Amino acid sequence: MRRLYLSATVVFWLLVAAFWIGGKWLPSAGESAAIAAERVIPAAELAKHAMPGNCWMAIRGSVYDLGTYLPQHPSPPEIVTSWCGKEATVAYDTKTKGRPHSPYADELLAKYRIGMLAPAQSR
Ligand code: HEM
Repeated sequence: MRRLYLSATVVFWLLVAAFWIGGKWLPSAGESAAIAAERVIPAAELAKHAMPGNCWMAIRGSVYDLGTYLPQHPSPPEIVTSWCGKEATVAYDTKTKGRPHSPYADELLAKYRIGMLAPAQSR
């Protein structure tokens, strides 16, 4: 009886250790969902978000939802809002003045990413 108890205890702790190690290696359900659910946004959908309060932009292949950020942007609003709903990589990379944004701006931008821009359809 005592032997059975000892073996059951050992098996139990081995299972606990196996699940713990497995949990460290495998991506969590949330991570897997995030990997599987990368949103691919067609240009037509991007174009529907072309208002200052509802503003998406495509920059370097990713799409960003910038509606909540734009009121904090340091330039006069129309410089940026004219790019809502559009592919804005060159505008972002040059600030339309030939000067790049800072690394801080790049970090800020990353927080607003919502997916990737769908590749252009060739006819
Ligand atoms: C795509 C259109 C955009 C244009 C045309 C544009 C243009 C500008 C201009 C003219 C300035 C102020 C003057 C200057 O610093 O030279 C500026 C500054 C700045 N912008 Fe933008 N911007 C755009 C998008 C964005 C986005 C999407 C973000 C971040 C989410 C951003 C973040 C910043 C920051 C943090 C600054 C302060 C200076 C710096 O850190 O580079 N901008 N931008």
